Amino acid sequence: MAFQEKQLPPGAPLSAKALNWIDARFPVTSTWKAHLSEYYAPKNFNYWYAFGSLALLVLVIQIVTGIFLVMHYKPDANLAFASVEYIMRDVPWGWLVRYMHSTGASAFFIVVYLHMLRGLLYGSYRKPRELVWLFGVGIFLCLMAEAFFGYLLPWGQMSYWGAQVIVNLFGAIPFIGPDLSLWIRGDYVVSDATLNRFFSFHVIAIPLVLLGLVVAHIIALHEVGSNNPDGVEIKEKTDSNGVPLDGIPFHPYYSVHDVFCVSVFLIVFSAIVFFAPEMGGYFLEYNNFIPADPLKTPPHIAPVWYFTPFYSILRATTSDFMLYLAIGLAAYLALVMLKAKLNGSAKIGILIVGVAALLGMFVLDAKFWGVVLMGVSVMILAGLPWLDHSPVKSIRYRPAGHGYVYLVFGIAFVILGYLGVQPPTPVGTLVAQICTFIYFGFFLLMPWWSKMGQFKAVPDRVTFHPH
Ligand code: HEM
Repeated sequence: MAFQEKQLPPGAPLSAKALNWIDARFPVTSTWKAHLSEYYAPKNFNYWYAFGSLALLVLVIQIVTGIFLVMHYKPDANLAFASVEYIMRDVPWGWLVRYMHSTGASAFFIVVYLHMLRGLLYGSYRKPRELVWLFGVGIFLCLMAEAFFGYLLPWGQMSYWGAQVIVNLFGAIPFIGPDLSLWIRGDYVVSDATLNRFFSFHVIAIPLVLLGLVVAHIIALHEVGSNNPDGVEIKEKTDSNGVPLDGIPFHPYYSVHDVFCVSVFLIVFSAIVFFAPEMGGYFLEYNNFIPADPLKTPPHIAPVWYFTPFYSILRATTSDFMLYLAIGLAAYLALVMLKAKLNGSAKIGILIVGVAALLGMFVLDAKFWGVVLMGVSVMILAGLPWLDHSPVKSIRYRPAGHGYVYLVFGIAFVILGYLGVQPPTPVGTLVAQICTFIYFGFFLLMPWWSKMGQFKAVPDRVTFHPH
């Protein structure tokens, strides 16, 4: 189509003329309509639906405060710790910027964990939102990488030894492991070279990927439309203009909701930033107020709280546990072979991978399997859209028993998180091993348990009580 500007009435205001000029060259109005004023969201959203917008807010806080931190921070092993102290003591408002950034890291994970929990409860990962979920899992991986790289930068004892422990984990991979950890560190120990590359990843590489994934996440969501607490597809019932009968424009209806939720969030966020930025050692660990000392290992090294459920799974994988893991895997393979409704080649593929893993369990070190389990415990999230075979999406219409399954899973996840910050004890390790079984059982047995029980009838239209 030939280039054409819309004809405006002769007395049109200058602003309308300017917008018209821009619209002919860049889709401002149509984008605003498609994603805000004419994006029809289900009218029964509840507070769980605020966490996506809150995640966006925290992302912006992290980027803006990060930009200001970089102006004063020095990525040099001899200067890094002192430059952070300089930000805290001498840079005007530096303490605020730094505390906002460190609190923002934990806030990001709190918000994102709640956002994911909402997805789990309402089956938001199910068809047609599989890609929304997969982009989300990509975002989660980037967030973990971003937090990990960022944690080395203050160059405190925990920064140093945390990085040392995690990078050494790669050394457990057969054949390439030791060379791989050397390559990641850029040196035989965590050093200035490591600090420089982690800085580069933290300030540019990962944020770029993260931003791209967030854009993809929202575009994918707006392509298929939002789910809702009833798990009813509102696009199936539309008026003559194609507008969903149970949809309301995101702006102004939900933008107003989100402004309220942002205000509540900012009150809590400010309370932490101003009164408890260390949060009892959970948001900023006490050992990290001591400069990194490569010659002095702290007695107890634990990652920050948001990594600990996965870290616990790693630590639970001791050599005594391998036998139970092997029995569990063999039983699961038998179950898949006998009961799974998969085609022949899929079954053969699973059998080959499963038997190889089973044999490997008797040959390779438990440390290696700990790393594998930790990796799989995050990656398994990506399989959720295909593991859940429930005939309904939302927990509201699932049998009561499913609620208990979610509850047990949630408790196991929290216990794993708690144990991950504690020094290991024999009882703690046993509990972590039981929770590891529960964690994987939840996902791997989902194709079966998600179909069990008496489901409630899903209504045709969303349930909505005006208030
Ligand atoms: C930087 C992190 C993230 C941002 C900024 C973000 C942003 C958003 C926004 C704005 C929405 C729409 C509003 C809402 O439904 O809450 C949304 C929806 C969604 N997000 Fe995220 N998200 C993030 C991370 C994640 C992660 C880690 C997952 C899962 C692994 C995820 C899964 C979903 C799903 C399934 C929906 C659709 C929910 C529904 O329609 O019921 N997101 N996200």
